[in-house]
Amino acid sequence: MTSMFDLSGRTAVVTGARRGIGLAMAEALAGAGADVVGVSAQLESNGSEVERRVRAAGRRFTALRADLADRAAVHRLARDITALGPVDILVNNGGTIARAPAAEHSDEMWDRVIEVNLSSQFVLSREIGRTMVERGQGKVIFTASLLSFQGGITVPGYAASKSGVAGLTRALANEWAAHGVNVNAIAPGYIATDNTQALRDDPDRAQAIVTRIPAGRWGRADDLGGATVFLASAASDYVNGIVLPVDGGWLGR
Ligand SMILES: NC(=O)c1ccc[n+]([C@@H]2O[C@H](COP(=O)([O-])OP(=O)(O)OC[C@H]3O[C@@H](n4cnc5c(N)ncnc54)[C@H](OP(=O)(O)O)[C@@H]3O)[C@@H](O)[C@H]2O)c1
Repeated sequence: MTSMFDLSGRTAVVTGARRGIGLAMAEALAGAGADVVGVSAQLESNGSEVERRVRAAGRRFTALRADLADRAAVHRLARDITALGPVDILVNNGGTIARAPAAEHSDEMWDRVIEVNLSSQFVLSREIGRTMVERGQGKVIFTASLLSFQGGITVPGYAASKSGVAGLTRALANEWAAHGVNVNAIAPGYIATDNTQALRDDPDRAQAIVTRIPAGRWGRADDLGGATVFLASAASDYVNGIVLPVDGGWLGR
């Protein structure tokens, strides 16, 4: 690895680090040299898979458990993170999805998805980002989605939340770029995780999806590692406010 991607001595906070994409992002950041603070709703205080992988890379790991659907818990989380020391990299990845046609999409579904995927991410970014602005350095990375660009099917709250994440990425980037803080997002394509299990369980949807992907396969969580390290490192110091698709070519089609 060349030095421009080196994250030695940096501390990265990764939400949703217990499984799926966040787990792979945490592993990639640790592989590039970062210590990791993992956050998720059910994260084990000791012995988690993400802890195992980060320690295997020779880096330090700290586990924090918080429900991103609970605004008061997100404020506590921000305080707990800040108390640990300076944060160099904040990966806002934890997210949820609720599938139901728009006409049956309940207030509860809508509110929960918007809270977890958008509002909690704003609160955390504001609280941690403020300290980055004060220090004149930092990297904020959101996990956006193809539904930051498209409407999707039967996931109106999710599409709205991820379109909101794209807007939030640009809004924060505009304010913080001049202060040495890079704010960007990664838009994963169709990645085989728990989030997309329902799609892969539906043979017609699964086939339709893979047929449309130029790369000819579903993505794997570790396909996101390179883009994560790029946006976390000095290699992206002049990259601000982008939503980077990692989608096997889906959006280009
Ligand atoms: N898979 C895809 O194809 C795809 C595509 C585009 C974007 N994304 C986005 O990528 C991100 C990660 O998704 P994934 O596919 O890795 O899904 P996943 O396997 O379901 O993992 C979701 C992670 O987010 C955490 N999380 C969910 N709700 C939470 C809450 N209320 N409080 C705290 N943590 C919470 C989970 O915590 P626990 O493990 O503790 O339950 C888990 O670690 C999400 O933002 C998702 O929208 C995924």
